[in-house]
Order: sequence, then structure tokens, then C-alpha cells
Amino acid sequence: MQRRELMRLLASAGALPLLAPLARAAAGKDDWQTDFEAAGTRWKTGFATPPGDLPLTRAAVRGRFPDAVAGTLFRIGPAGHDLGGERYHHWFDGDGMVHRFVIDGADVRHQGRYVATPKRVAEVQAGRRLTEAFGTMPPGVEPPTSADSINVANTSVLPLQGEVLALWEGGSATRIDARTLDTLGVKTWRPDLAGMPFSAHPKVDPDGTVWNFGVSSGQGLLALYEIAPEGALRRAAVVPVADMPMVHDFAVTDRHLVFLMPPLVYDTKRKEAGASFLDAHVWRPELGMRALVVDKQNWEKRRMLTLPAGFLFHVGNAWEETTPRGTLIHIDYVRSENADSVFTTNREVMRGRRVKSTDPHLTVVTLNLDTGTATQTTLAQEAEFPRIDPRRVGLRHRQVIHATQIRRDLPGFGAVARTDVESGRSQRFSYGSEAIVEEHVFVPDGAKPGWVLGTVLDFGRQKTVLSCFAADHLAAGPVAQATLPYTLPLGLHGAFVKA
Ligand SMILES: [Fe+2]
Repeated sequence: MQRRELMRLLASAGALPLLAPLARAAAGKDDWQTDFEAAGTRWKTGFATPPGDLPLTRAAVRGRFPDAVAGTLFRIGPAGHDLGGERYHHWFDGDGMVHRFVIDGADVRHQGRYVATPKRVAEVQAGRRLTEAFGTMPPGVEPPTSADSINVANTSVLPLQGEVLALWEGGSATRIDARTLDTLGVKTWRPDLAGMPFSAHPKVDPDGTVWNFGVSSGQGLLALYEIAPEGALRRAAVVPVADMPMVHDFAVTDRHLVFLMPPLVYDTKRKEAGASFLDAHVWRPELGMRALVVDKQNWEKRRMLTLPAGFLFHVGNAWEETTPRGTLIHIDYVRSENADSVFTTNREVMRGRRVKSTDPHLTVVTLNLDTGTATQTTLAQEAEFPRIDPRRVGLRHRQVIHATQIRRDLPGFGAVARTDVESGRSQRFSYGSEAIVEEHVFVPDGAKPGWVLGTVLDFGRQKTVLSCFAADHLAAGPVAQATLPYTLPLGLHGAFVKA
């Protein structure tokens, strides 16, 4: 692609609003807030809105957290779900709250702060919603002036060079002070990339290189980023993708970027007709699950392979090998039959209702780059929030840490598991019948088996609990737990930074 053409595409992707402008007439409030308040489910505190920031608070610790996990677990998730008596209609809409759990042996402290995005600051001041969200078009909202005017910074965190970036896939990363959780403003990698989408799932190579992507749905463009370990942008470009789907996560191998693209396709006409960003997407299973493979060194070298239709949010890891059968990319991901979870389950929780959708399962794919064939095997384990040893990103791995044990009557998962994606063997720890598991991360410990660190909403006791497990003895239960004197809203992703 010529540089001039690249600049034109980048400029159009950054300058145009991600979501089509369509002001809606003011209308009366709906019933979602009253439905939520009336719901009798005790788990609904996981979707409640903290009225403000949560000051640094000491947890009650049982046991002692190992030296390898001395440091800070940063987490983030949607937290500002309602404002001015109106409630968002989707879990993913809410204003982001960033958390830090500062861990030092038997001392654990927690702090939570809303990310002071321009959207949150303006809306709190106004006492009502002013712009649309991922899955909700509140009545009377103004058209977005840019992608960042609706950025809620609520999805994941990337520690980079002493700062923490709060990520939201539709727009810029937001810089956060790692010690105070102060919001420092949006991250601009290069002036001409201001406001470009930067996904919530960057991948960090073992050498520290950061790879990421962003989806410009309306423009049908996939932005690619390569960032040096010291935080400077090395390269960025956009590549066109026909029938642009919702892509939330991706994978890297040592030579390729790999995108699994579910057939949930953005339809500009639906957006222009007033749909939310989510509802502008159409399920088109005839497209299958496309697998786009991009050469890391030369982004012009791209291959598209196809798997049976399915939906995913998250990828565990990918790696590749050269064999007599061809160059094979192995990738594991969390597969659902369809996208009902994002359209229904993750909506209805906002009024305190549990609607079950198809169970997501760990699934292992092999892409043969020489023959163009793609095959997959679905494992027995229900799963979400897959994480691996960060030292194995893009390299052969076997162990995936993930949430598991879907409940019929509760949203989410009740157990954390460690599954060997080659043998299918798995061990798990169940938190019991009154707990909802959040993402657990793997923390390395030199050549030792390492640790698993994660949070759970214990709605029986109405507390959020941080647990640490020996990674090779997960089923034996936590070696240490820190119980907060309050519950946190159920969040999405986190990252551990060693002290
Ligand atoms: Fe995610």
C-alpha cells in the first residue's frame, strides 16, 4: 500500500465517528433500572454501580501470598451501569473502573477508581447519558463526535513502561497512573493515529514487542500495530477486510498474526437506521469462521482460511511448526455455536435476569498454511477468560487457565480450571454455589510451576475475594485468600505486575 493511500485511510478511520451519528428524540425512561432494583437475585450486586471511587482498603487475608505474586494485580471492567435513574442495557456498556490489588505476603490492599474518560466526566456532570454505548442507545443522545467521545475504557489493561493503559476496542487506549489510578488522558501512538481503534487484547512477545489491532467497522478496515518494548510505535497500517466482523481478540505466533473472525458482521445500514453498535451486527453463518493469517514482517502477505461458523470472544494462544504436512499454526480459543451470549445473556443480566445461551468450550484449531485446510477439535471443558503463562505467548504451550463450570441459574462460571490443550486433561477448583468467577491469571515463578491469581464474587457473603493457587495443585484450593469488605462489579480482564 502506498504511504499516501495509507494516510488517507488512516485519516478517514480516525476522523470519522466509529458509530454513525444519529440523534434520537428524547423519550421517557424505560424499566431497566426498576427491573434491576426489583430483581430478587443476590448475584445482581455483580452488576451494581459503585456510587464513586473506592479508596485504598485493606483486605482480610487468610494464609500468605507467595513471594512470586508480590506486586500488583490490575483489573478493569464495566462499573458505571446507571446514571440519572437510567440503566444501560448491556454489561459491556458501563463506564470502566480500574482496580489495583497491591499484594505483599499477608498484606493485600485494594483501590478502585472510575476512569475519567471525556464521556464519563461530561455525563456525570450532566447527570444523564449524553452519548450512545456498545449495546444501548439511550433516549435523547447526541451523535458521537469521534470514537473517543464514546470511549468507556472498560475492557482490559496493558501495563507498559510504568503506566497502565485502560483499553476499549472502539477507540484509543487511556493512560492511567499505576500508583494512583489517576486518568492521564488518551494514548496517541503517532499524531496521525489519534483516535484510532486499539483493541483490548494486545499480545506481548517474549522479547517485549507489543502487537495489536483495531477494527474500524464502518470503514471495513483492520488496523495493525507493532510497538517496541520501550513503548514507541514501530509500525502501523490498515488492511481492508470484506464483511467486517466483530473481532475482540487475536493471537500471535513467532511469525504470524492470526485473527479468528466470527460471522457476526457489521451492517452500516443498520447503524444508520439507529441501531446500537452491537445491534448493527448480523449473524451470517454462511461466511463460516474466517481465519486471517498475516505475516508479522510483511503485512501485505495475508492468507484467509475458513472454519465452520462459530462465535468467540477470546483466544488462548497460538504457535506454529514446520512439518512434512506443511506449516501448521495451532491456536486454541473459546468457541460458542452462536452469538446469543452477547445479544441476550450479557444484556439480561443488566435487569437481574439469567438467560442461558450456548455453552462456550475450549477448542483447538490447526491451520495448514501450505494446503489451506483448517480443522478444529472442541474439548470437553466449558471455558471463558483463557490465560497462559505470559512467557509462552506465540510459542508452544500446553496449559490454559480458564473459568469453567457454567451454572444454569447463575450468570457466569463457578470454578477455575487448568487444562492441557494437547491431552485434554484438566483440573479445577470450584468456589461453591454462591460465587461467580472472574478472570484468573498465571503468574510465573522462575522454573517452578507458578501461581494462579484471580478474583471471585462471593455473593453469599457479599464480598469480592482474591485467591492464589499453586498452578500445579489447583484442585487443592487456594494457598492464600484476601477478602474485601465489599463487592466489586464483575469485571473483565487484568494483568499482574511484579513488585
Ligand atoms: Fe476480552
